[in-house]
Amino acid sequence: MKIFLDSANLHSIKKYNDMGLIDGITTNPTLLSKEKEDPAALMREIVRIVKGPVSLEVVGTKTEEMVEEAHRLMKYGQNVVVKIPMMPDGLRAIRQLTQEGIPTNMTLVFSANQAILAAKAGAAYVSPFIGRLDDGGQDGTDLIKEIVQIFRNYHFNTEVLVASVRHPLHIIEAGKIGADIVTLPPDILARMIIHPLTDKGLAAFLEDWEKLKKENPNVGI
Ligand code: G3P
Repeated sequence: MKIFLDSANLHSIKKYNDMGLIDGITTNPTLLSKEKEDPAALMREIVRIVKGPVSLEVVGTKTEEMVEEAHRLMKYGQNVVVKIPMMPDGLRAIRQLTQEGIPTNMTLVFSANQAILAAKAGAAYVSPFIGRLDDGGQDGTDLIKEIVQIFRNYHFNTEVLVASVRHPLHIIEAGKIGADIVTLPPDILARMIIHPLTDKGLAAFLEDWEKLKKENPNVGI
């Protein structure tokens, strides 16, 4: 399972990149709007820091605009993946960019039908939003299961990138289903690392080591 960071925050990206935990990055206009830096400069910097694929989203809604923005975004670096929203113009843009050899990620996917079309258009990644479906009372996990099964049945090369992750259980579910990638907000990745029993266990180990040292001041490792 690959882990992407769903963030445009440089501090978080550097922190988890240095820990070797990040296989790629996904951004979107909302994530960019949360940061103080100029969006174009920020996107360039993220692409420079991270070695894996970095999804950068277009904001045009017509095929021609999307393709033109994609060409500009591709100049940021070789690891750019152009993120395109699910809509007829978006499918057309993906078809055209795929023919040009530009990798794309179809975003805002909420049904297996949309995912099939994204794959047929040639998207390298498809991004179903698990959390937003859960928020609306629909089971987001069921959608991931459907897409993974359909893509396997037909040997589609498109990778399933689970987006809108809300909690660590979504990651377990995505892993059990066999989704290719989960993209995580930094706080969810942080929550994957910690466990109260780990903290309790470490405190006990260190306390016992201190006791041992008091009794035998010369011990060491
Ligand atoms: O990058 C797209 C996706 O992960 C958005 O998540 O939390 O805005 O539903 P969220």
